[in-house]
Amino acid sequence: MKAYRLDDFTSVDDLHLHDELPPEPQRGEVLVRIHAVSLNFRDIAMVRNQYPVPHAKGLIPTSDGAGEVLAIGEGVDSFKVGDRVMSTFHPRWYAGRRPINLFQYGYGAAIDGWLVEQKVVSQEALVRVPDSLSYEEAATLPCAAVTAWSALNEGAPVRAGGTVLVQGSGGVSIFALQLAKAVGATVIATTSSAQKAERLRELGADAVVNYREEPQWGDRVRALAQDLGVERIVEVGGPGTLAQSLRAVRPGGEIALIGFVSPEGGHINYLDLFMSGATFRHITVGSRESLMDVAQAIDVAGIKPVIDRVFDFADARAAFAHLDSGAHFGKVVIRCA
Ligand SMILES: NC(=O)c1ccc[n+]([C@@H]2O[C@H](COP(=O)([O-])OP(=O)(O)OC[C@H]3O[C@@H](n4cnc5c(N)ncnc54)[C@H](OP(=O)(O)O)[C@@H]3O)[C@@H](O)[C@H]2O)c1
Repeated sequence: MKAYRLDDFTSVDDLHLHDELPPEPQRGEVLVRIHAVSLNFRDIAMVRNQYPVPHAKGLIPTSDGAGEVLAIGEGVDSFKVGDRVMSTFHPRWYAGRRPINLFQYGYGAAIDGWLVEQKVVSQEALVRVPDSLSYEEAATLPCAAVTAWSALNEGAPVRAGGTVLVQGSGGVSIFALQLAKAVGATVIATTSSAQKAERLRELGADAVVNYREEPQWGDRVRALAQDLGVERIVEVGGPGTLAQSLRAVRPGGEIALIGFVSPEGGHINYLDLFMSGATFRHITVGSRESLMDVAQAIDVAGIKPVIDRVFDFADARAAFAHLDSGAHFGKVVIRCA
């Protein structure tokens, strides 16, 4: 069985292919033949040694995979051989409040992840794949779609007529755009190029602002939202975008704090924070229940995950490098079988 391991944190060249013995499922466990894995910014942050959560060398990277059940251990009653399943981002967060020890079970950071041909996991750490999704599509859900779902639906859910700002055209932002449009919200997006702006409009964005041409985009976004500001900001930029988000948000609105794709940023003035009138909510992806909810929403609404490119297993390094380039639109996937 082939498995990739990230043996250091300097570049994608630290990703090495190993031959390993296939695992066997024990009581309560399921053996999955992995068909597809998707990459997240987190995987690149780890390669660059910029992931803000403790992470160990030598582990199998990536958190998001989908495949078929090859075998089940004694006592498994949730799945049978042949079922189509996907990973949950947090294998021990089932529902409700976030457990305090979440990061002890981080795939690719604390325990082996999914960039491998076969993997054994607890039956509790899997969710069934909806019939409408291929393995490649399902593999995009566990982190990006759940995070977008949490940003829009945990706390006060975004409703029809609500206004949402999404930043850039990465995995989380495109799912947030699709899910917000599915409930009838107005979506404003920022992006780096005219070509990506056009594709965001095709996906339903009501207005798009190019943040390279207009680095002080906060007031523009506020004006586009009827001069009131947006109700929900899916904040994936972090240090480099928060100051503009504070200008774009509506008093009483919410900034869902998610990411740090834009790491360079100035000092945030306390009074700007205070006067924005916004609520701030920290997101840590979400639970298995949220994955089940977003998978159902995607299935019922007929949403198709946007996949930029699918790489072969042998080309995993190229897939990481492609995500690292920022040229992608949506998700980058590795086909494992
Ligand atoms: N807290 C959580 O639970 C959680 C969960 C998932 C992800 N995250 C974080 O959320 C962020 C996004 O993750 P992802 O996997 O969706 O990333 P991704 O797919 O790699 O998306 C990266 C995209 O961000 C956009 N971008 C870069 N700089 C930007 C800026 N200044 N303003 C607006 N957009 C910018 C670019 O799109 P354009 O070229 O279109 O601008 C780029 O393609 C990462 O920081 C990740 O670590 C956090």
